[in-house]
Amino acid sequence: MKFKKIQVIATTLFLGTGIVTTSMADTTVIDSLIKTYQAQGATEANPQRGEIFWNKSFPGKAPFAERSCKTCHSANLKNTGKHIRTGKVIKPLAPSVNPKRLTSTANIQKWLKRNCKWTTGKECSAQEKADILAFIQQQ
Ligand code: HEC
Repeated sequence: MKFKKIQVIATTLFLGTGIVTTSMADTTVIDSLIKTYQAQGATEANPQRGEIFWNKSFPGKAPFAERSCKTCHSANLKNTGKHIRTGKVIKPLAPSVNPKRLTSTANIQKWLKRNCKWTTGKECSAQEKADILAFIQQQ
Protein backbone atom coordinates (compact mmCIF):
# COMPACT_ATOMS: atom_id res chain seq x y z
CA MET A 1 0.00 0.00 0.00
CA LYS A 2 2.62 2.44 1.06
CA PHE A 3 4.71 1.59 -1.97
CA LYS A 4 1.78 2.29 -4.27
CA LYS A 5 1.30 5.71 -2.74
CA ILE A 6 4.94 6.58 -3.27
CA GLN A 7 4.67 5.37 -6.83
CA VAL A 8 1.70 7.65 -7.45
CA ILE A 9 3.57 10.61 -6.02
CA ALA A 10 6.64 9.77 -8.06
CA THR A 11 4.56 9.48 -11.23
CA THR A 12 2.86 12.79 -10.52
CA LEU A 13 6.18 14.48 -9.94
CA PHE A 14 7.58 12.97 -13.11
CA LEU A 15 4.60 14.02 -15.22
CA GLY A 16 4.61 17.44 -13.60
CA THR A 17 8.22 17.98 -14.58
CA GLY A 18 7.43 16.66 -18.05
CA ILE A 19 4.76 19.29 -18.55
CA VAL A 20 7.09 22.09 -17.51
CA THR A 21 9.79 20.80 -19.83
CA THR A 22 7.48 20.43 -22.83
CA SER A 23 5.99 23.90 -22.53
CA MET A 24 9.51 25.31 -22.60
CA ALA A 25 10.70 23.33 -25.60
CA ASP A 26 9.90 25.11 -28.86
CA THR A 27 9.85 21.92 -30.89
CA THR A 28 6.94 20.28 -29.05
CA VAL A 29 4.19 22.14 -30.89
CA ILE A 30 5.72 21.40 -34.28
CA ASP A 31 6.50 17.77 -33.47
CA SER A 32 2.90 17.12 -32.56
CA LEU A 33 1.56 19.09 -35.54
CA ILE A 34 3.77 17.06 -37.87
CA LYS A 35 2.39 13.89 -36.28
CA THR A 36 -1.12 15.20 -36.96
CA TYR A 37 -0.23 15.77 -40.61
CA GLN A 38 1.30 12.30 -40.80
CA ALA A 39 -1.95 10.86 -39.49
CA GLN A 40 -3.54 12.68 -42.45
CA GLY A 41 -1.26 10.97 -44.93
CA ALA A 42 2.02 12.92 -44.91
CA THR A 43 5.27 10.99 -44.88
CA GLU A 44 8.33 12.32 -43.07
CA ALA A 45 8.66 16.12 -42.89
CA ASN A 46 11.37 17.28 -45.26
CA PRO A 47 12.84 20.79 -44.71
CA GLN A 48 14.46 20.88 -48.17
CA ARG A 49 11.07 20.33 -49.79
CA GLY A 50 9.67 22.98 -47.46
CA GLU A 51 12.30 25.44 -48.66
CA ILE A 52 11.45 24.77 -52.30
CA PHE A 53 7.79 25.38 -51.52
CA TRP A 54 8.69 28.58 -49.67
CA ASN A 55 10.44 29.98 -52.74
CA LYS A 56 7.98 28.74 -55.33
CA SER A 57 5.87 31.25 -57.27
CA PHE A 58 2.18 30.68 -57.92
CA PRO A 59 -0.01 32.61 -60.36
CA GLY A 60 -2.69 34.81 -58.80
CA LYS A 61 -5.16 37.52 -59.67
CA ALA A 62 -3.78 40.97 -60.52
CA PRO A 63 -2.36 43.13 -59.07
CA PHE A 64 -0.62 40.25 -57.28
CA ALA A 65 -0.09 38.10 -60.34
CA GLU A 66 2.91 36.33 -58.82
CA ARG A 67 2.59 35.03 -55.30
CA SER A 68 4.81 33.16 -52.90
CA CYS A 69 5.43 32.93 -49.17
CA LYS A 70 8.24 35.44 -49.78
CA THR A 71 5.72 38.01 -51.01
CA CYS A 72 4.97 39.03 -47.43
CA HIS A 73 7.59 37.27 -45.32
CA SER A 74 10.65 37.94 -47.54
CA ALA A 75 13.01 35.19 -48.70
CA ASN A 76 15.09 35.29 -45.53
CA LEU A 77 12.86 34.27 -42.63
CA LYS A 78 15.13 36.08 -40.19
CA ASN A 79 14.13 39.37 -41.78
CA THR A 80 11.10 41.45 -41.02
CA GLY A 81 8.43 41.06 -43.65
CA LYS A 82 5.84 43.41 -45.04
CA HIS A 83 2.26 42.59 -45.95
CA ILE A 84 1.94 43.20 -49.68
CA ARG A 85 -1.65 44.46 -49.42
CA THR A 86 -1.80 46.33 -46.12
CA GLY A 87 1.85 47.38 -45.87
CA LYS A 88 1.88 46.19 -42.24
CA VAL A 89 5.16 45.02 -40.81
CA ILE A 90 5.35 41.26 -40.16
CA LYS A 91 7.82 40.17 -37.50
CA PRO A 92 10.38 37.53 -38.57
CA LEU A 93 9.09 33.97 -38.84
CA ALA A 94 12.43 32.39 -37.86
CA PRO A 95 12.21 31.03 -34.30
CA SER A 96 15.95 31.73 -33.87
CA VAL A 97 15.30 35.48 -33.93
CA ASN A 98 11.64 35.43 -32.87
CA PRO A 99 11.10 32.76 -30.18
CA LYS A 100 7.35 33.38 -30.12
CA ARG A 101 7.05 31.74 -33.53
CA LEU A 102 5.72 28.19 -33.87
CA THR A 103 4.54 28.11 -30.26
CA SER A 104 0.78 28.06 -30.83
CA THR A 105 -0.92 25.25 -32.74
CA ALA A 106 -4.10 27.25 -33.31
CA ASN A 107 -2.18 30.25 -34.62
CA ILE A 108 -0.06 28.17 -36.97
CA GLN A 109 -3.06 26.33 -38.37
CA LYS A 110 -5.04 29.52 -38.84
CA TRP A 111 -2.29 31.31 -40.74
CA LEU A 112 -1.20 28.31 -42.78
CA LYS A 113 -4.76 27.91 -43.97
CA ARG A 114 -5.18 31.58 -44.86
CA ASN A 115 -1.73 32.07 -46.36
CA CYS A 116 -1.73 28.86 -48.41
CA LYS A 117 -5.07 29.85 -49.89
CA TRP A 118 -3.95 33.37 -50.76
CA THR A 119 -0.59 32.27 -52.11
CA THR A 120 -1.41 29.09 -54.01
CA GLY A 121 -5.17 29.37 -54.56
CA LYS A 122 -5.92 26.38 -52.33
CA GLU A 123 -5.17 24.94 -48.92
CA CYS A 124 -1.81 23.22 -48.55
CA SER A 125 -1.73 19.44 -48.33
CA ALA A 126 -0.73 17.68 -45.11
CA GLN A 127 2.65 16.91 -46.72
CA GLU A 128 3.24 20.52 -47.77
CA LYS A 129 2.39 21.77 -44.28
CA ALA A 130 4.69 19.24 -42.61
CA ASP A 131 7.56 20.19 -44.96
CA ILE A 132 7.01 23.95 -44.49
CA LEU A 133 6.98 23.66 -40.71
CA ALA A 134 10.14 21.54 -40.73
CA PHE A 135 11.78 24.26 -42.85
CA ILE A 136 10.60 27.22 -40.74
CA GLN A 137 11.63 25.43 -37.55
CA GLN A 138 15.24 25.26 -38.78
CA GLN A 139 15.47 29.00 -39.41
C1 HEC B 1 -0.40 38.23 -48.09
C2 HEC B 1 0.71 38.17 -47.09
C3 HEC B 1 1.23 36.83 -46.64
C4 HEC B 1 1.68 35.80 -47.43
C5 HEC B 1 1.81 35.76 -48.94
C6 HEC B 1 2.06 34.74 -46.53
N1 HEC B 1 1.87 35.11 -45.23
FE1 HEC B 1 2.28 33.99 -43.58
N2 HEC B 1 1.53 35.48 -42.38
C7 HEC B 1 1.03 36.68 -42.83
C8 HEC B 1 0.48 37.42 -41.71
C9 HEC B 1 -0.18 38.80 -41.79
C10 HEC B 1 0.66 36.61 -40.57
C11 HEC B 1 0.19 36.92 -39.14
C12 HEC B 1 0.92 38.05 -38.51
C13 HEC B 1 2.13 37.58 -37.78
O1 HEC B 1 2.15 36.42 -37.34
O2 HEC B 1 3.08 38.37 -37.66
C14 HEC B 1 1.34 35.40 -41.03
C15 HEC B 1 1.71 34.36 -40.20
C16 HEC B 1 2.25 33.16 -40.64
C17 HEC B 1 2.54 32.04 -39.77
C18 HEC B 1 2.33 31.97 -38.27
C19 HEC B 1 3.62 31.69 -37.55
C20 HEC B 1 3.53 31.79 -36.06
O3 HEC B 1 3.84 30.83 -35.38
O4 HEC B 1 3.22 32.87 -35.55
C21 HEC B 1 3.04 31.04 -40.59
C22 HEC B 1 3.47 29.64 -40.18
C23 HEC B 1 3.05 31.55 -41.94
N3 HEC B 1 2.58 32.84 -41.94
C24 HEC B 1 3.49 30.83 -43.02
C25 HEC B 1 3.34 31.26 -44.35
C26 HEC B 1 3.62 30.41 -45.49
C27 HEC B 1 4.11 28.98 -45.43
C28 HEC B 1 3.33 31.15 -46.60
C29 HEC B 1 3.37 30.70 -48.04
C30 HEC B 1 2.46 29.61 -48.40
C31 HEC B 1 2.88 32.47 -46.14
N4 HEC B 1 2.89 32.49 -44.76
C32 HEC B 1 2.52 33.50 -46.97
C33 HEC B 1 1.03 37.13 -44.14
C34 HEC B 1 1.35 36.39 -45.25
